[in-house]
Amino acid sequence: CGIVGYIGRREATPLLIQGLKRLEYRGYDSFGIATVGSEIDVFKKQGRISESEAGTVVLGGSVGIGHTRWATHGEPNDSNAHPHTDCTGRLALVHNGVIENYIELKKQLLERGHIFRSETDTEVIVHLLEENFTGDLLEAVKKTVPLLEGSYAILAVSAHDDRIVAARDCSPLVLGIGDGELFAASDMTPLLEHTERIIFLEDGDIAEISPERVEIYHDGAKVERSVELVNWGIEDAKKGGFAHYMLKEIFEQPQAFYETIRAGISDAVQEMIRDAEEITLVACGTSYHTALIFKYLAEPLCRIPVRVELGSEFKYYPPPLRGLVIAVTQSGETADTIAALKMAKAHNCPTLAITNVQGSTVTRIADTTLMMRAGPEISVAATKSYIAQLAALMEIVNVRCDGKYDDLLQHAHLAIGEVLLQEMQGAVALCREAEHVFFVGRGPFYPVSMEGALKMKEISYVHAEGYAAGELKHGPFALLTPETPVVAICPPGSTYGVMISNIKEMKARRAPIIALGKKGDTELAEIVDIFIPIPDSDPMVQVLTTSVALQLLSYHTACALARDVDKPRNLAKSVTVE
Ligand code: G6P
Repeated sequence: CGIVGYIGRREATPLLIQGLKRLEYRGYDSFGIATVGSEIDVFKKQGRISESEAGTVVLGGSVGIGHTRWATHGEPNDSNAHPHTDCTGRLALVHNGVIENYIELKKQLLERGHIFRSETDTEVIVHLLEENFTGDLLEAVKKTVPLLEGSYAILAVSAHDDRIVAARDCSPLVLGIGDGELFAASDMTPLLEHTERIIFLEDGDIAEISPERVEIYHDGAKVERSVELVNWGIEDAKKGGFAHYMLKEIFEQPQAFYETIRAGISDAVQEMIRDAEEITLVACGTSYHTALIFKYLAEPLCRIPVRVELGSEFKYYPPPLRGLVIAVTQSGETADTIAALKMAKAHNCPTLAITNVQGSTVTRIADTTLMMRAGPEISVAATKSYIAQLAALMEIVNVRCDGKYDDLLQHAHLAIGEVLLQEMQGAVALCREAEHVFFVGRGPFYPVSMEGALKMKEISYVHAEGYAAGELKHGPFALLTPETPVVAICPPGSTYGVMISNIKEMKARRAPIIALGKKGDTELAEIVDIFIPIPDSDPMVQVLTTSVALQLLSYHTACALARDVDKPRNLAKSVTVE
């Protein structure tokens, strides 16, 4: 979910709506805003802002809060949409996170006569605020948050009051300092067009926000939080002539890779990497795939044991906690990855965060951070953040190999650029008709194929699976038909021969084959149905180029099927709940 708040001299409604549109990539089941005057006015609705009559929302006032939802508790409908109000209608609240003890709290509140109007966990907070409210919203929030178990970033307002009270614990919340106005939001994206002066709140902080100042409290005491200058411009977060953010971001990949390499690695991080005797990476989604690619590169090239764990599994089934632990997370806010990182820290493992977002939660937990330089990524499906993560992870391989890959990494972005205009018509024609598509590869191209399949699923809704090429015969062969395309990654190298054998086995089961191979590889081109040429280069660079080609395949397939490319159904870019 995304939350946003405004307090200042301007009309709050258009600013809140604009802010929510920028946050929609965090969730888009429903949205709502509340503004403050002599009473609280609320507008909320199922669906996306862009699809509804948002332009016609007219709530007066220059103080307000807003929310765009990714449903956890309670289906997406008008009443479950935020903001939620108390029984008196004097208080309103938006919330991102999950209140784990809400059932118990709700039972007690019902016994005390509160009337609930939604199925959400959030609504308990506003009823608790009501009980604790004796005219001072800050005091009410201070009394309420200790009762909550779970995660929250909240913004609360009360009628007749020119203040917003914010609080966070285990969910992100940032403040933007303007000129006589203040903004609050789940992340920096909606703030960029108004200010570059940002305060990153810490877990446990409660902030009282008025147009001219913000006062922050932690454990009952007033604290100072530094104002940081952010280096992302608003232009980076706009579509700039491309049909979709995803396509724009695919095209920004040479730059994302180059900038990440150019930024280099700090001495502290280099030392940590050199000292490591083993490495565990924790990640989710696309970041999990980059972590797996790292394992395939680092183990043979640097002779270091590497373990890769899903954030969601790590916490409940922890591996031996020893050696360097690296959290790989584009947003720096994925709840499962954060939980794993905290656990590693509690066991005194040295910890490193690889992230794209300055000031994000992981940067505050890990001992050190390696920043990716992808700029803001808006499309829900990760593309340039994936490539920038690979840049950072390949830099780590390079450090362990004493700079052996310096030259290769300095020039890899050129090969990425060569793939961008690759046409995909033939491959798209096969995939768009398919019920299932398999993606196969060996070595690092196995996780590349997993990522290819994930992209296909998430944006085109065509079922896809990424498989180790040698494993297909142990089950999935039963699914191969002339209608089940197999996308095979078959670059030159030690696995080329065995990949050709695998492709022939699949052809014998009448599956159409789309192969990615070295430009000019006529042997391969002749035995497959569709051949997608990839520039000839080192295997490390081929990991990048084949990944980009697969992104394009999914993108064009999704467009051919008229899918909502940037905002696929049921998904969110940043999953801040476990
Ligand atoms: C969500 C996004 C994915 C992303 C994953 C992990 O599911 O839709 O694109 O890979 O979260 O996100 P992170 O920010 O931790 O890399």
